[in-house]
Amino acid sequence: MSNPQPILELREIVRSFGEGQSVLRILRGASLAIRPGEVVALIGPSGAGKSTLLHTAGLLESPDAGMVILGGRDCADLNDKERTEIRRNELGFVYQAHNLLPEFDALENVALPERIAGASKAEANAEAVRLLTMMGLGERLDHRPTELSGGEQQRVAIARALANKPRLLLADEPTGNLDPKTAKLVFDELIALVRRENLAALIATHNLDLAAKMDRAVVLHEGRLVEGRPTAAGAADASGEAGDQATQPKPDATLH
Ligand SMILES: Nc1ncnc2c1ncn2[C@@H]1O[C@H](COP(=O)(O)OP(=O)(O)OP(=O)(O)O)[C@@H](O)[C@H]1O
Ligand SMILES: [Mg+2]
Repeated sequence: MSNPQPILELREIVRSFGEGQSVLRILRGASLAIRPGEVVALIGPSGAGKSTLLHTAGLLESPDAGMVILGGRDCADLNDKERTEIRRNELGFVYQAHNLLPEFDALENVALPERIAGASKAEANAEAVRLLTMMGLGERLDHRPTELSGGEQQRVAIARALANKPRLLLADEPTGNLDPKTAKLVFDELIALVRRENLAALIATHNLDLAAKMDRAVVLHEGRLVEGRPTAAGAADASGEAGDQATQPKPDATLH
């Protein structure tokens, strides 16, 4: 079991936006494999295509070319229902904007997707309480998003992404828009939870201190993914495909 089958494999993903002269070639053959239990940082400057890549991996968008393989299954020919099933059963997604439902409290925001997926109220609520308590929000269950701080809202969004017990967590700057101290706090909780539940995770972040805590990092550079070693002190040291090093831009070290 030293080299188990990847939970997520991206093969030569291509994605462009627009047409003709104004076409933006964002992903140009991005490849990646993540195995169970691996926590991988996705880094790259703003506009590099991190969200596009995560949406593609999460079956929210389709690539122009290339393969998305989840749990050994090629997702190219799945219909909408099958894609929804995979998202519901195997994936957890933390969006760049946390998208909490304003009219529902923290507990309901976490429990609702599970209830819609068919879980009983008791079952969904019990899991929501467990996750929110783990995220340090046991005292905030009945707070609506407007009654929560930014960091607390982010933690509710993380709990919600984990409520279906996914095998793979895709998180798009889960600590974006937080002050550095809160970002570290939320991130440490997220990583602890991911490790405790033995999930695989791909986490986009601009914060190299946080990236350095993950098992490895991949840098999105000119539409391709390059293995890199993030160091807390500075830029990621890209050391992947030949020829890319010379032009490798230093990823933003912007702190939130
Ligand atoms: N639906 C779309 N139509 C046209 N262009 C798009 C679309 N979605 C994304 N883009 C463009 O693709 C590029 C990559 O966007 P993406 O959101 O993936 O970047 P990102 O790496 O996540 O950036 P950030 O760090 O700012 O979140 C951007 O230049 C963006 O303007
Ligand atoms: Mg983004």
